[in-house]
Amino acid sequence: MEPAAGGQQPRRRPVSPGLLALLCSSLLLNAVFIAHHLFWPTRLGAGDSCCGLSWALQAAREAEAVAATDCSGHGRVFLDGVSGEDGRPGCECNTCFSGPDCSLRTPNCTADADSGNPLFLEPYWRRHAAASAVVFSGWHRISYSTTDGLFQSVELENHIRMLHRAVGNAVVDDKHVVFSAGSLQLINALVYALSPDANDADAPPARVVSAVPYYGNYKKQTELFDGREYEWGGTTAVWANASRNSTDRFIEFVTSPNNPDTQLRKAALGGSMAVFDHAYYWPHFTPIPAPADEDVMMFTMSKPSGHAGSRFGWALIRDEKVAKRAYSYVTESIMGASRDTQMRMLKIIKVILANLRTEEDIFVFGHDVMRTRWRRLNAIASRSRRISLQKIPPQYCTYFKRIRDPSPGTHHLSFCYSYAWVKCEREQDEDCHEALLKANIITRPGVIYEASKKYTRVSLLKSDDDFDVLIERFTDLVNAEKYAAPGVSSM
Ligand SMILES: Cc1ncc(COP(=O)(O)O)c(C=O)c1O
Repeated sequence: MEPAAGGQQPRRRPVSPGLLALLCSSLLLNAVFIAHHLFWPTRLGAGDSCCGLSWALQAAREAEAVAATDCSGHGRVFLDGVSGEDGRPGCECNTCFSGPDCSLRTPNCTADADSGNPLFLEPYWRRHAAASAVVFSGWHRISYSTTDGLFQSVELENHIRMLHRAVGNAVVDDKHVVFSAGSLQLINALVYALSPDANDADAPPARVVSAVPYYGNYKKQTELFDGREYEWGGTTAVWANASRNSTDRFIEFVTSPNNPDTQLRKAALGGSMAVFDHAYYWPHFTPIPAPADEDVMMFTMSKPSGHAGSRFGWALIRDEKVAKRAYSYVTESIMGASRDTQMRMLKIIKVILANLRTEEDIFVFGHDVMRTRWRRLNAIASRSRRISLQKIPPQYCTYFKRIRDPSPGTHHLSFCYSYAWVKCEREQDEDCHEALLKANIITRPGVIYEASKKYTRVSLLKSDDDFDVLIERFTDLVNAEKYAAPGVSSM
């Protein structure tokens, strides 16, 4: 800057008091904003409020606090976890991990691939924590009934219909919807609904049947509830060629895709009243050749979204009389599915719908996990002469074809299976479940499905940690084959 004419320094004008006050108040305001932003959330007490919220804040803070504890990535903290000495719930570790923060890995841990617990979807819901959170007050829907005195939420029913239409896995327009506490409850509810009336003393009991290998709970429940109007009739093969009376009545459970061998199935017994269990008829588990349109179908939320703990299932039933009987079974036994569960399911379905056919589509996520897991296990099994997996030719999956790259390619093929149906090929491995147990792999024995002992089911649905340990143990098993003398057990 040039000096002022005459060599005189310019006189500084004094800052006006008004400007000074403005500057100070602006600095003060900024400081208040920053402090508010940084410290406010931890200062609030139960009676404080923020952003138009008051009573929900404390619950939100508690939910966020447990979700923020990462337990070394091998466990989680839950709101209702057992309190430790500090009065707060501690980490619940995944199998094969221990310690206060789940950081200790158990060496040579046994892999547990028994249950179909769908924890593989937990990371999806962590990604969508904000959208899927549900908050409601202590007085919310404490009544026995919901809108219009019903036991079923009309809004949830509408969203279930929307979900089936959007996914294209079931025809809903001409069906009645009956909610239940998990689809497990529907097994007996539908057997009851399709059986002869209890007052009809002349009608012989309906025979409940299924084709081998079948989901064991059909038999278990039918025998447990032991009604006069129905009885367990065994496998469909027993009746396929048997001579029948005109009064014979069969209720056939058809699981499609099947648990345990993941095959898409049709009814095996002509003329039976079939109940189609479509627990796995969703795009991350199977190709969907066409929307299912059978008279009686059952679904569960456990497998599409992973919310097995919420215990929510529903039946789609064409005939009004059958639907009314199924509904009365659920009403008489539990007065309808839990209203809290219905609230949560509504939110979950809304999130699923909002993300359909985007990169955040739950079925895209689930399909990628299932496909990767199947490929990893299949790669190991294909090196083995001791074990083999079921062979199902991959099919084109129309659901993904619509979402992903429309050019023909292998990524439209569905290679994903929820369970591996493992066969032990060697003569001496008569009991496949026991043979794998000796290799520290827990599976579900084939006999539970009334299949041969040579088979056992391996679940691919559990957490990433569970699956990693499973792959380790299978790798050990197959590697050991190289060093075993022919005919000598390597386990
Ligand atoms: C074929 C089949 N049906 C029904 C169920 C029961 O599901 P939920 O009671 O969790 O709804 C299962 C669970 O694994 C299943 O595999």
